[in-house]
Amino acid sequence: MPELHAVILAAGKGTRMRSDLPKVLHQVADTPMLQFTINAARDAGASGVHVVYGHGGDSVREAIGDDDIQWALQEPQLGTGHAVSQALPGIPGDATVLVLYGDVPLVNPATLVQAVKIATAGDVGLITVTVDDPKGYGRIVRDAAGAVTGIVEEKDANDDQRAIREVNTGLMALPGARLRNWLEAVDNKNAQAEYYLTDVIGLAQTDGVSVKTVNPAALEETLGVNDRNQLAHLERWYQRRQAAALMTAGATLADPARLDVRGEVSTGKDVYIDVNVVLKGRVTLGDGVRIGANTVITNATLGAGTEILDNSVIEDAEVGKNCRVGPFARLRPGTRLADAARIGNFVETKAALIGPGSKVNHLSYVGDAEVGGDVNIGAGTITCNYDGANKHKTIIEDGVFVGSGVNLIAPVTVNADATIGAGSTITKDAPAGELTVARGRQITVKNWDRPKKKPKTV
Ligand code: UD1
Ligand code: CA
Repeated sequence: MPELHAVILAAGKGTRMRSDLPKVLHQVADTPMLQFTINAARDAGASGVHVVYGHGGDSVREAIGDDDIQWALQEPQLGTGHAVSQALPGIPGDATVLVLYGDVPLVNPATLVQAVKIATAGDVGLITVTVDDPKGYGRIVRDAAGAVTGIVEEKDANDDQRAIREVNTGLMALPGARLRNWLEAVDNKNAQAEYYLTDVIGLAQTDGVSVKTVNPAALEETLGVNDRNQLAHLERWYQRRQAAALMTAGATLADPARLDVRGEVSTGKDVYIDVNVVLKGRVTLGDGVRIGANTVITNATLGAGTEILDNSVIEDAEVGKNCRVGPFARLRPGTRLADAARIGNFVETKAALIGPGSKVNHLSYVGDAEVGGDVNIGAGTITCNYDGANKHKTIIEDGVFVGSGVNLIAPVTVNADATIGAGSTITKDAPAGELTVARGRQITVKNWDRPKKKPKTV
């Protein structure tokens, strides 16, 4: 089998985005469009990926930051055929070539594989769609027997050709050696004075190579993005598909249109997700997990039976089974909750291990801390972990009870089963099993006269 090399066209200006950012770096689901296309190429089996980029496109190379990509500069931009020619020197002579667009992000690798199979067999696999309004696209011209004889660009088409509704998506797979010859024969004698890639289709037919068409399962797969309205359309389409996949896998969504997935989510069964939830990066949801409204979860694992209540924000955290978090909780990076832990409202944790069954229920900050099992941390407790230069650790052992309003000045250890009196500022280790209180003693001043205001004289 010949090697498969993908050529991704990404040199166009993208004027209609009205943006300083190159078009292919605009994102779908937090990922640059070009990255989607690169991933699709690899998923379709490409061993070589070549991106044709334009003048000033160094920011594209930097943003993608992938050492396995071969970059080909196209300057000036003389058309899609000229663009593909720029990548050919880096492609082995006998390879199969798959042409993709950097601004067509959501193509399904399965569709590409169909076209590649045709090209591997020596023919041309052309991905086409039939649309109600073919405006702007190259039209697919067929003979009386239905064989493809060429593509005619709208600007070069006669009235009969313009009426054709089967159009070129631009994506195609071709035998590389043939493509090389055909591209050499392509000229720019057309309405746009460009070297059209589409002209190779007519040349293939002349050479007796048949052009077989492949249709994507969904039109959106092959839609390109020229402006931000089209970008939003693809984003919503992508999100609906993510939502559908989650529902198929066993999650109930309060509203499939009000969940955004910007990464990879795996879900157990009987998961429930309320409205306006955003899941980013790698998120793993165990069986029976419930996620409340307006919650953002990034790179996290939630164990079976865990409930995240409304308005919580979770990032780089591992949450055990049967935990309850929120409402209004913030689990920052490095938080690990053991099974049945509870984090309540207005609690922030960071680099914190919270042991099984332990509770931090109200208005607390627990950072750089190890908290054992069955610990109760009262309202308004702060681990004072930062001295302005360094971070220090707080260790709270099993069975500790911390009263409300306690400052734990790290480094400090509260030993097992200790009790810390409310309002304490703890600067030294607290011994196991004892009550430690560190606060001013209460006194009462008898017969004390509160200062009084003098009556005003006018
Ligand atoms: C092209 C096709 C047309 C097809 C349409 C699908 C040709 C001649 N026409 O038309 O049949 O229906 O796409 O959207 O191929 N690009 C470069 N360098 C260039 C020119 C283009 O890299 O010199 C890139 C663009 O960045 C873009 C893609 O190629 O990603 C297509 O270019 P565009 O100008 O959008 O092609 P169309 O004229 O729309
Ligand atoms: Ca276009």
